Amino acid sequence: MTLFEAEQIDKLFPGVRALDGVTLRLEAGSVHALLGENGAGKSTLIKVITGLYKPDGGRLLLDGQEVQFGSPHESASAGIGVVHQERNLIPGFTVGENILLQKLPTSRGLVDRGRIRSEAARWLGELDLDIDPDKPVTELSVAQAQLVEIAKALSVESRVLLLDEPTASITPNEAERLFRVVDKLKNDGRSVLFVSHKLEEVFQICDTVTVLRDGASVLESGALSDLTRDQVVDLMVGRVHEALTLPRRTVAADAEPLLELTGVGTATGHTDVDLKVRPGEIVGLYGLVGAGRSELAKALLGLDRITAGEVRVRGQVVRIKNVRDALKTYKIGYVTENRKEEGVFLEQSVARNIAVTVWDRLRKALGHVPFLRYVPKKAETAIVADYVEQLGIRIASPEQLAGTLSGGNQQKVSLAKWLAAKTEILIIDEPTVGIDVRTKDAFHTLIWDLAANGLAILLITSDLPEMITLADRVVVMRDHRVRGEVANDHDYDTMSQQVIRLIHAERTTAA
Ligand SMILES: Nc1ncnc2c1ncn2[C@@H]1O[C@H](COP(=O)(O)OP(=O)(O)OP(=O)(O)O)[C@@H](O)[C@H]1O
Ligand SMILES: [Mg+2]
Repeated sequence: MTLFEAEQIDKLFPGVRALDGVTLRLEAGSVHALLGENGAGKSTLIKVITGLYKPDGGRLLLDGQEVQFGSPHESASAGIGVVHQERNLIPGFTVGENILLQKLPTSRGLVDRGRIRSEAARWLGELDLDIDPDKPVTELSVAQAQLVEIAKALSVESRVLLLDEPTASITPNEAERLFRVVDKLKNDGRSVLFVSHKLEEVFQICDTVTVLRDGASVLESGALSDLTRDQVVDLMVGRVHEALTLPRRTVAADAEPLLELTGVGTATGHTDVDLKVRPGEIVGLYGLVGAGRSELAKALLGLDRITAGEVRVRGQVVRIKNVRDALKTYKIGYVTENRKEEGVFLEQSVARNIAVTVWDRLRKALGHVPFLRYVPKKAETAIVADYVEQLGIRIASPEQLAGTLSGGNQQKVSLAKWLAAKTEILIIDEPTVGIDVRTKDAFHTLIWDLAANGLAILLITSDLPEMITLADRVVVMRDHRVRGEVANDHDYDTMSQQVIRLIHAERTTAA
């Protein structure tokens, strides 16, 4: 039985036809995948369905009846729940308040704190999450925030649930919990739409699939059981896609590390962290959500306090003050996982975003012109064009505001910015979250090339295949400590077993 249908939807933006006659059908008791490369139109379709965008053509049908949603509030009341790709938690509120925002429990006209706590705890419990409902959302990690968003969408108990890359920033362990809930919803006769660039997940939980390419559907409601992974990728890409194989690099084991940590402790709870990254080496940092990987990167960059031990850059003990200091004084680049708040200036053009880290260099190259405050447009345009091309950033023009790019394309801008900066040490946190298959290969090649050119790279990723493609060694963290190290033998099975064994070894506290 068809619960919901979007029929022949068109949506135009200045310079792009984001959706071109797209039809999507959601059946009761089934999970439907919506796939396509970055910028294909997936999020736009979801925003049209929830009433955030007004379509320029086509119609929406719920239970066979035509509906028009003037706002997300109206679609929510009609039983359509959503987890948007961008995080939407409200900063001044607690976890519990955010989860129940759409229907805050009240008693005698006042917000009922006790019930907020107990109901929020119930939804968090559905996902096996151990997060205090009274915690302010500003204290959550990126992954926790994503899980809270999911709990929030579940709490509406909608008949149709739209999930736009809900697993982008969480590890497979957390994703499994979500999938158990999705399974329950499905058995309950509800309908779930699932957007993800992680195709293993898609094949694991989805029944049917719609594939978009450049705003048009190239496959409508196909059965996933009839398709292979390669076929799906070819449909998205529009031609036969070859899997990427990168040659092995050799790292001089006796080279002096560019970055070295000894016995480092931090205000966020790390103890005794030892870590070395040599020139030409990619060191992977793996662990479950909450293991303290991103927090370690932040402490290194002066964003959190280091309370013990030593950080050395090129052999010198250093204390980095902030991200700017890291870049200017030590040539360390930092690609944060928190793209929306820290990675890109959403209100600025794509061109400005990419050029921002290279202004100093550009100014020097142009000679010491006194009081030169702006980089000539031509120089900026040349750099930007280069990266737009290399990374295949999908833009209407370099002047397009970064905030109007698709999620994956924003990601590319944030990486391009650091590539353009010519650093010697690069700390990269979850570089390919929300990146489509083809671009992922381009990213991997770029990162590999940087290492081959002698950069020292610390790579934080929850994507195990990515870790195995890129890292020379994988350092495993748990509970803010290094638990061990695995040399990469490029065999997925042995590597994943070894890494997972380290994560679970002598486990003391639950995640
Ligand atoms: N508010 C907007 N203003 C202008 N253009 C927009 C806006 N929102 C989306 N677009 C454009 O519409 C196209 C489709 O974007 P959309 O966000 O739907 O892609 P997506 O399939 O969700 O990609 P991703 O996998 O990167 O999330 C892109 O070219 C994007 O730049
Ligand atoms: Mg999207």
